[in-house]
Amino acid sequence: MLWPVPRARANARAMHRITLRRPDDWHLHLRDGAMLRAMAPESARHFGRAIIMPNLVPPVVTGAEARAYRDRILAALPEGHAFTPLMTLYLTEATDPQDVIAAHQAGLITAVKLYPAGATTNSASGVRDIDKVRGVLDAMAEAAIPLCVHGEVVDADVDIFDREAVFIDTVLDPLRRDTPGLRVVMEHITTRRGVDYARSGGPDLGATITTHHLVINRNAILAGGIKPHYYCLPVAKREEHRLALRAAAASGEACFFLGTDSAPHVDPLKEQACGCAGCFTATNTLSILAEIFEQEGALDKLEAFVSLNGPAFYRLPASADVITLEKGDPVAYPAKIDTEDGPVTVFDPMMPLHWRVL
Ligand code: DOR
Ligand code: ZN
Repeated sequence: MLWPVPRARANARAMHRITLRRPDDWHLHLRDGAMLRAMAPESARHFGRAIIMPNLVPPVVTGAEARAYRDRILAALPEGHAFTPLMTLYLTEATDPQDVIAAHQAGLITAVKLYPAGATTNSASGVRDIDKVRGVLDAMAEAAIPLCVHGEVVDADVDIFDREAVFIDTVLDPLRRDTPGLRVVMEHITTRRGVDYARSGGPDLGATITTHHLVINRNAILAGGIKPHYYCLPVAKREEHRLALRAAAASGEACFFLGTDSAPHVDPLKEQACGCAGCFTATNTLSILAEIFEQEGALDKLEAFVSLNGPAFYRLPASADVITLEKGDPVAYPAKIDTEDGPVTVFDPMMPLHWRVL
């Protein structure tokens, strides 16, 4: 069985509370337009800050574009929410190092995102030849600007389940050796190899782990019929990898922190012959994570994973605000979020959730 029911569940009536520094999401897709207006409240409800992915159409490439996108996000936030979007630039082979440095110095951006061209949604403007971005990477190392990396090779002859491990060996490790001082976040790691590499990388290497990769293995997508709402990139791997990710997240180790990669697509774009990659988890992420950490016997490590390790890596203070989660009867959350573009299905963790955010 995939999801063992912890013994503590037998006493579900017993109420427990945990109070954490307000969590941050170190990898989030908020999109734009009507989708942004529907999604901004979903993240702002629980999270204090989020690293905002730049893979819009067209992508957020320049400091001026990051400023304009940040302002659209701020305008989409509900009254009274103190949510801070931490902007990123989408690295292209034409990115100007001076623009990156100026945007960082002006406080407009927190990081730069590397998409190998063709690796995922809206990555066509990404990097084909790493040599073409060496100048930007050197400038980023000098200025200590983190590089967020989508770590998958795109070669058609590499099996999709091996693309992360091959990327680490053939791209990431050489890149880090060639660029001393470059601070790197391995985004949404999905394998034991990713866990081991992140662990061995010292203080300039971090790794985000998504909520959904702690819940599903590849069977969730493929066994008993194709389940498009469990399809994301990097694709979920074998069970042994899910278990390695859970152990890493629950370890409290400084290099591992939450990046939900919550990636909304309207249902018609997920449920079609060629469905989009992405799981939408912003709405119920904290309830899922509390459930998982309880199953792991590691509720005392939840705060490190969701609230402390991320800011420490990004050299930002942890939130001064707190949230409280309370354990009780199963939590109700919407199955879908309605947007003007259509419904977005909320990630179904296939287990009841007992921790609600007060
Ligand atoms: O599943 C994913 N969805 N993975 C990504 O890397 C991109 C994201 C999206 O933008 O939809
Ligand atoms: Zn993403």
